[in-house]
Parts: sequence; structure tokens; C-alpha cells
Amino acid sequence: MTIYKVAVIPGDGIGPEVIAEGIKVLNRAAELDGRFRFEFTHFPWGCEYYANNGKMMDDDGLEQLSRFQAIYLGAVGYPGVPDHISLWDLLLKIRKGFDQYVNLRPITLLKGAPCPLHNVSREQIDMLVIRENTEGEYAGAGDWLFPGQEHEVVLQTGVFSRKGTERIIRYAYEVARATGKTLTSISKANALNYSMVFWDQIFAEVGKEYPDVQTTSYLVDAASMFFVKQPERFQIVVTSNLFGDILTDLGAAIAGGMGLAAGANINPERTYPSMFEPIHGSAPDIAGKGLANPLAAVWSASQMLDFFGQEEWGKAVLQAIEDMLVEADTLTPDMGGTASTREVGDKVTSLLRSPVK
Ligand code: NAI
Ligand code: MG
Repeated sequence: MTIYKVAVIPGDGIGPEVIAEGIKVLNRAAELDGRFRFEFTHFPWGCEYYANNGKMMDDDGLEQLSRFQAIYLGAVGYPGVPDHISLWDLLLKIRKGFDQYVNLRPITLLKGAPCPLHNVSREQIDMLVIRENTEGEYAGAGDWLFPGQEHEVVLQTGVFSRKGTERIIRYAYEVARATGKTLTSISKANALNYSMVFWDQIFAEVGKEYPDVQTTSYLVDAASMFFVKQPERFQIVVTSNLFGDILTDLGAAIAGGMGLAAGANINPERTYPSMFEPIHGSAPDIAGKGLANPLAAVWSASQMLDFFGQEEWGKAVLQAIEDMLVEADTLTPDMGGTASTREVGDKVTSLLRSPVK
């Protein structure tokens, strides 16, 4: 019996509500399979913890988490705690501390999922965005000079190291090669005349080792247009931290909305745990009411199964989500239904079937 040790940080707002449903699905997969099981350990960190303890997580939080193979996170952030504190002192601390330099965001339009684009078929929206997750524009490098004075100046520096740029691009080439898909790099070398010229150069350099991978490069503004107009252009996509953040929200919008968007923060070397989370936030406006859509959290559970080498189960979970969307009788209000978070979680759990061997 294989045991997967998972640290659970439900976090704030709807985080605990959606994570509970994801755990149900994971346990059901384990039960049906019989050869693996999960050991979940809950951590109470987040904004409530901050209100009581003056910090978002324990001082030795990273050390505690390092004993697990994966982290399953709901959402962090709540009115009363400034967002830059909740983000930097918990989420970014984990992503950076554990060198989770790959952010995987699948953008796949499942059958039955709401799509705001007209006449788009399921096959046209099926991409994987690989976002650099540790540096770039979110490196936290900069300065704030002469605050409040007339000559006040702020600097937010984009940081692109050769190592950081090369490893994310290489990861994307590997995925493209393994899946036989095309690879698109999204940058902005015309305006960002240092960082993105460098990015493009590394993309070409690394590409020499992958002559079998078909590539395209777009400027980020043109890419945004194509995401909407011709999403079928994209299969595997690699881009910087900021561009990836923005483009994947656009991607979420065309592939069923925030209620379905999942993301994995991966440390490919597995020196540290990787982290799986829905992309949405803590949604204080609907928290505690049973209105939250748990499907994004369930999708990220499917990514966790992939990460553990249980790709067949990862696919089975997506299939269960798709079957549910097609049946369309148990959906949360954001998808036009009247079901509660728990009802959706129970339904998707009941639809889960063992992969056909
Ligand atoms: P949000 O994603 O929490 O909510 C945006 C809108 O989408 C709200 O109207 C909300 O009700 C709705 N929504 C989000 N998830 C939903 C779900 N699963 N089912 C149904 N409706 C859903 O973003 P917002 O309002 O900008 O941020 C709220 C808090 O969450 C802030 O403190 C923010 O910093 C934090 N946040 C945390 C993130 C994380 O932990 N990864 C990501 C984004 C925001
Ligand atoms: Mg974002």
C-alpha cells in the first residue's frame, strides 16, 4: 500500500468548504483503487490564525510542511488582513521557500462547461499554461524612495536569472516533447528590451536541443487576442510570472470560469513538497453559505493525482467533473444551479469510476 502524505491548509473564507470536497474525491479514488491511500494533516494557518497569533503561519512552518509530499491549499485572504501580508507571508513564502518554480494551469473546456465564446467546440480549448513561478515581476525586488514626498519614487524590478528562465523553458519543452504537442512562448521583447529579449533568446537556445518540438512565439498582447479569437492555436504555453498570472485568468474565463480553474505549484526535483490549489480566492462574499463551487478544488486534486504518478486517476476525476457538467442537474449557483457545495462534492464523488485498464 502506497501512502501519500498531504499537508492540508484550508485557509480562509470558502477555502475550507471547497477543500473538504476535494478530500472526499481523493479518498474515494484511493478506496476504489485499493493500492494507495492518503494521510491528510490539517494546518490552521491563514487570516484567522493571523488575527490570533500575529502571523500567517508558525515560524517553523516551512520546516513542518517539508515532511509532506504535497500541500493541498484552499485560499488565503480575508478582510481585516492586508492582502499583501496574507499573500507574501503564506502563499508566496511556500512557493518561493519550496522552489515551486513551475505553475501548471490547465485550460481545458470540458463538455457542458459554460463558455462565453460563441461557436467554440471542446477541442478548440485544450491547453496547458506553464508559468514561471518564482521570479520575474513577482520577485519582490524594488524600492520605495522618499515616501510621501513630492519626489517619491517606486521601483518594481523584474528579475530574470539565466537559471530561472532556462529551467522553466526547459520544463515546457520536456512537456511538449512528452505529449507531442506544440509549444508557444509568450513574451514582450519589443517593449521589455532587457528581460524579454533575454527570455526569447533562452527560448531559442534551449529549443536547439528539441528540434522535434514545433514552436511559436507571440507578444503577450497578441496572445491575449488569440486566446479569445483562436484558442486552438495554443497547446503547451510557457510564459513569465506576471503574464502567466493574467493570461490564466483569461484562460479560466474561456474554460468555464473561476469555479473550474485549478493550479499546481511544482518543485520538479521533488526536493520539497509541491502545492495544489484552486486559482480562486477566499470569496468572502459567499463564505459560510454553502454556495462555493468546489470543482476547481476537485480539479486541483486531479492534478495532485497526476503528480503522484496516478495519471489514470487524474483523468478519471476530470471525467467525473465532465459527466457532472453534462448531466447539469447538480451545479452551484455560479454555474446556474441551486446545489450546495457539499451536494456537488457528493455528486462528483459518486460519479468517479475506476479507470479502464
Ligand atoms: P475571489 O476569487 O475570492 O472572488 C471573486 C469572485 O468570484 C467573488 O464574487 C466570488 O464570490 C466568486 N468566486 C470565487 N471562487 C468561487 C467559487 N469557488 N465558487 C463560486 N464563486 C466563486 O477573489 P477576490 O474577491 O478578489 O479576493 C478575495 C480574497 O481572496 C482576497 O483577500 C484575496 O487576496 C484572496 N485571494 C486569494 C487567492 C489564493 O489564495 N490563491 C487568490 C485570489 C485572491
Ligand atoms: Mg491570479
